Amino acid sequence: MKINDKLLDTLNKQVTAEHQAALIYQQLAYDLNALSFSGMSSWMMAQADEERAHAEKIADHILARGANVKLGDIEIPELEVSSPLDAFTISLEHERQVSEMIRNLARVADEVQDLDSRTLVNWFLNEQIEEEDTVGGIIDQLKLVGEDGAGLLRIDARLGAERDPLTGPAQ
Ligand code: FEO
Repeated sequence: MKINDKLLDTLNKQVTAEHQAALIYQQLAYDLNALSFSGMSSWMMAQADEERAHAEKIADHILARGANVKLGDIEIPELEVSSPLDAFTISLEHERQVSEMIRNLARVADEVQDLDSRTLVNWFLNEQIEEEDTVGGIIDQLKLVGEDGAGLLRIDARLGAERDPLTGPAQ
């Protein structure tokens, strides 16, 4: 089914937003590395890769339906990161914005009765629940350990191991 113009525009905006999310995670990775939390930095870097994969998933759908992918301008907001809690709070706030964009995408797909994008949109609705839950869980743990250095280093080691290509779970 030929893709509706309004839906195509919304999908293209989502491709751009996923690339923006990747760059935000990349910035957070640099900030955490500068604070000497190398495990958390690796976790953020892997998350940046995941966001690029999200962008490609939507781009593939657009291309498979015979339309063109158009990236928009990408701005990176000024991020103030002086602790891991700052970094993961920024991440959660951003994920919540992305979730709202995905809900809007679902509404547009429904409005124009585009059944062909339903599987894709449902995948993203579920993915956002998972992403918010994961980051929310890390924030809970960071709040529990507070300023305790040993606790922070344990979380750093765990998150680093989770995203280690040799020891972590398959993405
Ligand atoms: Fe692609 Fe983390 O949302």
